[in-house]
Amino acid sequence: MRTDGWQVRGIDRDDVDVTSADATRLALDGLDGLDLLVPAAGIVERHTAEETDDAEWERVIATNLTHVFRFCRDALPLLRRRGGCIVTIGSGWGMVAGPRAVSYAASKAAVVNLTRALAIDHGPEGIRVNCVCPGDTDTPMLRREAEQLGEPFDTSSSRPLRRIGRPEEVAAAIAWLASDEASNVTGTTLVVDGGALAGSP
Ligand SMILES: NC(=O)c1ccc[n+]([C@@H]2O[C@H](COP(=O)([O-])OP(=O)(O)OC[C@H]3O[C@@H](n4cnc5c(N)ncnc54)[C@H](O)[C@@H]3O)[C@@H](O)[C@H]2O)c1
Repeated sequence: MRTDGWQVRGIDRDDVDVTSADATRLALDGLDGLDLLVPAAGIVERHTAEETDDAEWERVIATNLTHVFRFCRDALPLLRRRGGCIVTIGSGWGMVAGPRAVSYAASKAAVVNLTRALAIDHGPEGIRVNCVCPGDTDTPMLRREAEQLGEPFDTSSSRPLRRIGRPEEVAAAIAWLASDEASNVTGTTLVVDGGALAGSP
C-alpha cells in the first residue's frame, strides 16, 4: 500500500477517551485531511443479559458503537479533502452471536450495518467504507476475555486453520481495503477468522 505523504495519528486510551464528548476534536483537530480512518477502540464484557447492568451496557455501546459513529461523522470533511476511506472493526460476533456477550455482539452487529449505511450515503462522494471482522486474535483483549471466563488462554483453536489469528493479519486486511487495489470495494465485510464462520449460514 502506498503511504508516502500520509499523516498518521494513532490514539489510545492514554491520549483520548473515545467515549468523551470532545474525543473527535482532540483526535482530529489540526489535520488538514485524512486518507484513512480506522476507529478500532473496543472493549468486551462476557456476560448474559441478566448479568449486564445498565452502566456496563452503556459503556460497551459507547466504546464499541457510538465512538465509531462520531469519528466517522466528524472525519467526513477531512476524508473528502483527500479522497480518503474508512475501515471499521467489527467482529465475527457482529455476524453471528456467541455465548455471554450480549452487549459486545449487539455493538459489533451495529458496526457492521453502520458501515453499510455509511457506504451507501458517501459512495457518491467517492468515500469507501468497509468493515474488517476479526475472529479470535492474539491481543490483550482476548487474554482478558479468557480471564473473565476463568479459562486458560490458548492459541490453538478448533477453527479450520487450527490457530487464533495474529494482529498483523487483521492489519493486512485493513491495509488492503484502504489500498487502490480495493478501489471498487465498499460496504463490504471482510472476515479474518481462520475460517471460523465458514460453516455458518
Ligand atoms: N482480539 C480479538 O480476538 C478481536 C476479535 C474481534 C474483534 N476485535 C476488535 O478489534 C479491535 C481491537 O481490539 P484488540 O483485540 O486489539 O483489543 P485490545 O484490548 O488489545 O485493544 C483495544 C484498544 O482500544 C483502546 N480503548 C478501549 N477503550 C478506549 C477508550 N474509551 N478510549 C480510547 N481507547 C480505548 C485500548 O486502550 C486498546 O488500545 C476492537 O474493536 C475489538 O472489538 C478483536
